Amino acid sequence: MKIAIFGSQEYDIESLNEANKKYSYDLTFFKAYLNEKTASLAKDFDAVCIFVQDTANKAVIDILAKEGVKTIALRCAGFNNVDLDSAKTNNISVVNVPAYSPHAVAEHAIGLILSLNRKIHHAYLRIRDGNFSLKGFLGFDLYGKTVGVVGTGKIGQETAKILKLGFGCKVIAADPYPNKSLEKEHKIEYVDLNVLLKNSDIISLHCPLTPQTKHMINKESIAKMKKGVMLINTSRGTLINTQEVIDALKSQQIGYLGLDVYEEETSLFYQDLSSSIITDDVFARLTTFPNVLITSHQGFFTKEALTTISNTTFENIEKISKNEKCENELTKK
Ligand code: NAI
Repeated sequence: MKIAIFGSQEYDIESLNEANKKYSYDLTFFKAYLNEKTASLAKDFDAVCIFVQDTANKAVIDILAKEGVKTIALRCAGFNNVDLDSAKTNNISVVNVPAYSPHAVAEHAIGLILSLNRKIHHAYLRIRDGNFSLKGFLGFDLYGKTVGVVGTGKIGQETAKILKLGFGCKVIAADPYPNKSLEKEHKIEYVDLNVLLKNSDIISLHCPLTPQTKHMINKESIAKMKKGVMLINTSRGTLINTQEVIDALKSQQIGYLGLDVYEEETSLFYQDLSSSIITDDVFARLTTFPNVLITSHQGFFTKEALTTISNTTFENIEKISKNEKCENELTKK
């Protein structure tokens, strides 16, 4: 079994090689992301393994099929970057890793909330500069604040529980499929999205990117929020209309913004561009706000999550190659 691993980072190589000891697959690591220009690298491979920055649209999948690829194995949960219909048409199986560590992403969302509120990232720099002033560092108690969690799947529910049980927040949630145990055991109230937007001091996004959720945070939805709201997005960048969020930061309608994801992150994230000129003016503007904290899609990045991702990726590929039922298959042949 020959597997082409696209968008490989050092940590992917390490953790996939470790997990592969059990399988001895023939792995080839490509630094390049999968896209129309690189898809032909997959010639004669049985499977491609991809992550969030890779693109498997119709054009890419047509090339993969021509080159003999039978399986697309996502080493992540979200699959908005894969055209499942084209995969099905081309008889290519698509598998993902739906749950590797919901704790990793939920805990990162909490990290963004705490850092933004208490300005920990600014304090770190100030202290190193010998400046012990507290000017501008006034925060607020999380206890008793209302947090709106949008999407209460695996990650959203962990986030909701940490905020409720750990910090004593009032947590409200919006999800077309409410989670009964969150409602009953943890007294988390499901409300209409508009009610959540209106009443939340902090809003944390945990729903997938779909045609329905694309740009769900836009000037209309922002206008419904409390003035000075904290907005956290660890889900997918395109849930947010970034330009309209920038306008709201300028008018101070949004008081804090924590992002682990960004609409145009593919050309930036996971690369060292410290000696390059950033040509994305929207991103550059975001970095000028003192109340914006951005991380480079690292919510998933814990040891535990990497191990589970690698093991599950190979389990998926193994099952598909043996024609066994695979619970993580996104499209049936
Ligand atoms: P999940 O599939 O378990 O949960 C998603 C939830 O969103 C479901 O309960 C679904 O009913 C709900 N939902 C769907 N449409 C909605 C809408 N219009 N409004 C409100 N809720 C809606 O997914 P999981 O594992 O919790 O992941 C959530 C998202 O987090 C993923 O789609 C992915 O984009 C992102 N993610 C980010 C990572 C990172 O490193 N920052 C790592 C892993 C996932």
